[in-house]
Amino acid sequence: MATTLTSAEEAGRCLATPAAYTDEARLHEALALLRRESPVRRVEADGYRPFWAVTRHADVLEIERDNTLWLSAPRPVLRRADVDAALEEQRARGGALRTLVHIDDPEHRALRAVGADWFSPKAMRELRARVRELARRYVDLLAEHDGRCDFVREVAAHYPLRVILSLLGLPESDFPLMLRLTRDLFGQDDAGRRRGEGAAAHTSVLADLLGYFRELTAARRARPTGDLASAIANARVDGRPLSDADAASYYVIIATAGHDTTTSTIAGGLEALVRHPGELRRLREDPGLLGTAAEEMIRWVSPVKAFMRTAAADTAVRGTPVAAGESVLLSYPSANRDEEVFDEPFRFDVGRTPNRHLAFGAGVHHCLGAGLARMEIQALFAELVPRLAEVGLDGEPAWLATTFVGGLRSLPIRYALR
Ligand code: HEM
Repeated sequence: MATTLTSAEEAGRCLATPAAYTDEARLHEALALLRRESPVRRVEADGYRPFWAVTRHADVLEIERDNTLWLSAPRPVLRRADVDAALEEQRARGGALRTLVHIDDPEHRALRAVGADWFSPKAMRELRARVRELARRYVDLLAEHDGRCDFVREVAAHYPLRVILSLLGLPESDFPLMLRLTRDLFGQDDAGRRRGEGAAAHTSVLADLLGYFRELTAARRARPTGDLASAIANARVDGRPLSDADAASYYVIIATAGHDTTTSTIAGGLEALVRHPGELRRLREDPGLLGTAAEEMIRWVSPVKAFMRTAAADTAVRGTPVAAGESVLLSYPSANRDEEVFDEPFRFDVGRTPNRHLAFGAGVHHCLGAGLARMEIQALFAELVPRLAEVGLDGEPAWLATTFVGGLRSLPIRYALR
């Protein structure tokens, strides 16, 4: 175990250190220290442009709700300064990713409406039986591994990917390619995952994703097939079709945001149940807790580590002045362990009520796929929990080094099925 953190300065730098996210205990030690001593903290870390770390639930919520003062553009995500510069250059050439999380109203509202119906409660009800069937198939797969497997590799990585890509309408033969590209995208800060060194590797992943999806747009414009990809390709905003780059960016956010997040929650959710056998027993004995259990897994894991906002005018957060043009980093794992909001925040409680976590964000950018993610997580554990007669760790789990989206990269388990 690493040494104890001694200062808020050191704790702040953890937020710009991908490796810090591979050691949950130390990360949460840093976040608790910041909440206690320096909840709005200026961070200057090697390789990153400065930012303010916001770690309290109330502050994260207030910033997310005010989308006039706090803008997503031009810095929605924390990246190394060289990657920011390379993306800026790519943008100037017209080949950049510009998704819902990168833009502000009024454009954001119009673009979000393009996909909104596909994630509505009604759409989710129509999808439920299919998701449940897929969950059953993936749990059945566990029977083929002789009571030992890496749960991430065999189940958690594939099931949400399959759900989202079939909703988009991609051919099954392209699923492995999408898995690889999404991992490349979110794994750029992880030595074991990254495609190559430096900013060029990052922009090359984006170029591959955008290239794939440009072809998809052309195909669905020529021949619509009634799937989400066809809806995006043929959508009109203010009477005009989306540009090729905007359509491609739309697929990228759906295909990427739509699975690594849920994968991490399912893997981290099972890990939490394994480490808290009393909670696993409780859930097995009372399936009525599946809804609150899924919500607690989402809070516990908080797979999206942060988004950022930039101040449109001089302002203050909790009394700390923030100048126009400066950026704040909203720490979801921290907000979701805030002692002021959660009773015993470090207790994993499958019956937690209320559970006002911010893992899906809030305000106009609130996660478009929250309903889908909840349904997928509940369906998986509805199938898995009654089948698991026994389960335990079969080695140490490993975590992805990232400051953006991630969680367990492997979860070795031993189990017996009923
Ligand atoms: C946005 C979390 C699953 C699609 C977001 C945001 C967060 C988030 C924190 C940004 C919110 C903000 O800035 O206020 C999560 C978590 C998930 C999950 C924790 C799983 C447990 C999904 C799924 C989809 C999805 C399954 C499926 C398509 C999106 C999209 C946005 C988004 C399109 C952009 C929304 C906008 O900017 O208007 N998500 N997400 N997410 N998420 Fe998710």
